[in-house]
Amino acid sequence: MIREQFRSIYGRAPDIVARAPGRIEFIGNHTDYNGGAVLGASIDRVVEVALAARPDDVWQFASDGRPDLISLPAGEAEKQAGASAWVNYPLGVLASLPGFGRLPPGGFDFLATSNLPIGAGLSSSAAIELASALAFLEAAGQALPRPQLVELARHAENQFVGVPCGILDQGVSGFGRANHLVYIDCRGPRFELVPLPAGAHFWIFNTHTRHALVDGLYAARHRECMEAARALGVPLLADVSAEMLAAGAALLEEAPLRRARHVVEEIARVEAAVRALRAGDLAAVGALLTASHRSSRVLFENSTAELDFLADHLAASPHVFGARLTGGGFGGAVMALTDGAFDEAQARAVAATYEAEFGVAPAILHARTADGATLVPVAGR
Ligand code: GLA
Repeated sequence: MIREQFRSIYGRAPDIVARAPGRIEFIGNHTDYNGGAVLGASIDRVVEVALAARPDDVWQFASDGRPDLISLPAGEAEKQAGASAWVNYPLGVLASLPGFGRLPPGGFDFLATSNLPIGAGLSSSAAIELASALAFLEAAGQALPRPQLVELARHAENQFVGVPCGILDQGVSGFGRANHLVYIDCRGPRFELVPLPAGAHFWIFNTHTRHALVDGLYAARHRECMEAARALGVPLLADVSAEMLAAGAALLEEAPLRRARHVVEEIARVEAAVRALRAGDLAAVGALLTASHRSSRVLFENSTAELDFLADHLAASPHVFGARLTGGGFGGAVMALTDGAFDEAQARAVAATYEAEFGVAPAILHARTADGATLVPVAGR
């Protein structure tokens, strides 16, 4: 429990506790920064943060992963490196507050804990940003409407941490609801909840692999997409229809053309998935997920042998509607949409087949949908 952990580190109870969930990218791979549509789900694995005001002007940070305290003068959000780098997520939020018309709080003690696997493509970074943002706003007696809260967290990630991600991760962690998917029209952005049909289950297989150049590869895909949009004479690839792309194909180099084709077709798959979800047709939804993975593999080229193995194996398994890589790619996790008969034994059998091929077992997570970021009431306040 975060309250007890806080007390054992700081010797008193926290004033404020907030929590935010990790997310699954359900469908919509690399559509977000192209202004397209994406569907995600917030899950029952969370980052929690706890905070108590201090009388002096010191910001002090601890986490369950890194128990040593990090102390900074309040108001000086200096980017940290090495073992302290995790603190850049809350620091990025603090540094971003003034741009959203809000003040950072004065001195505080802070603790972050997580039961969300880190580095599994489930957006632990967005979760700590959202939970921290809620706690810092509350500590300074302020609030932000939810869309701005989500933008604040993304701003921290883009500008302070330095990752050029889209709005998917923060949007889903901020707007998620149990038994729903979050649909994001990323251009607005506009957020909408889509009910998840009963009997749908998520199984996540984390390969623990991560391409050494993943950050550079993500940025390279981002660049190729912007290049393709420019060559086609539009601000973003979401402005391109299938007909426009066919007509303009000769204007593009081979790689940007493949990236553009993936994005244009993937946006159409997201819209088709929303229609199939509303019709309760999980078989049709699953086929779209599997098609999305194929497109990531062949056109966007952000899959790996490990992810392909799991996605192919799962998609061909009984009780599985469809499977695809989830998140940025170049390693990370595969998600399967299954019916209720898919169980732990079947998941372990899939993991064993993978282990026989690659020598390491993937981690298995049966994730349930859960509510988005929220302050947690603290007794006596
Ligand atoms: C990462 C980013 C998201 C999104 C996905 C790919 O998870 O953080 O913004 O771009 O990759 O869809």
